[in-house]
Amino acid sequence: MAVKEEWEALSAECAGCRACPLCETRTKLVFGVGNPQSEIMLIGEGPGEQEDLQGVPFVGPAGKLLDQMLEMIDLDRTKVYIANMVKCRPPRNRDPQPTEQEACRRWLDRQIALVDPKIIVCLGRIAAMGIIKEDFRITREHGQWFDVGGRRVMATYHPSALLRDVSKRPEAFMDLRALRKEIREICTRTY
Ligand code: URA
Ligand code: SF4
Repeated sequence: MAVKEEWEALSAECAGCRACPLCETRTKLVFGVGNPQSEIMLIGEGPGEQEDLQGVPFVGPAGKLLDQMLEMIDLDRTKVYIANMVKCRPPRNRDPQPTEQEACRRWLDRQIALVDPKIIVCLGRIAAMGIIKEDFRITREHGQWFDVGGRRVMATYHPSALLRDVSKRPEAFMDLRALRKEIREICTRTY
């Protein structure tokens, strides 16, 4: 199967997923958005209220800020691929539970394999703990590069955290600059 067909098959298969209890309360499943052929992938936590209603990641207030952050380094959501640790909204935006994240990993792992990004950016501690290491400390380790399965992976603050605490924004900006530099160094296409 060509990658495009595999991608469509994956998305169609995921659409009917009932592998964890979050399927009971979702409005729409949120698979991902952007360019699945990008060399850069962003991974968030899980859908919020607006995402659940629209079926698209990062379209609420945090998403607006994420768009601005991407724009600062000449990116936008059409140039990267964006997905979440869990595809269905946790009730009242609580953290997705480890069992839910484990159940949903089948989709994320296949998305990562098909996109095959050179660079992964974890948005917030939940994604960093799932992708980089279980004991990841966001305040101490954001902006650092890790090697995960041959990919360059870093975490920065989640845009929701930057909405709650603007004092973290300069550090997040430094992380974006580090991302910009890494893209210039290792990506084969221009962004
Ligand atoms: N927060 C996330 O982590 N993901 C979204 O898609 C929206 C908000
Ligand atoms: Fe399936 Fe993931 Fe939704 Fe759970 S959160 S029902 S595992 S798609």
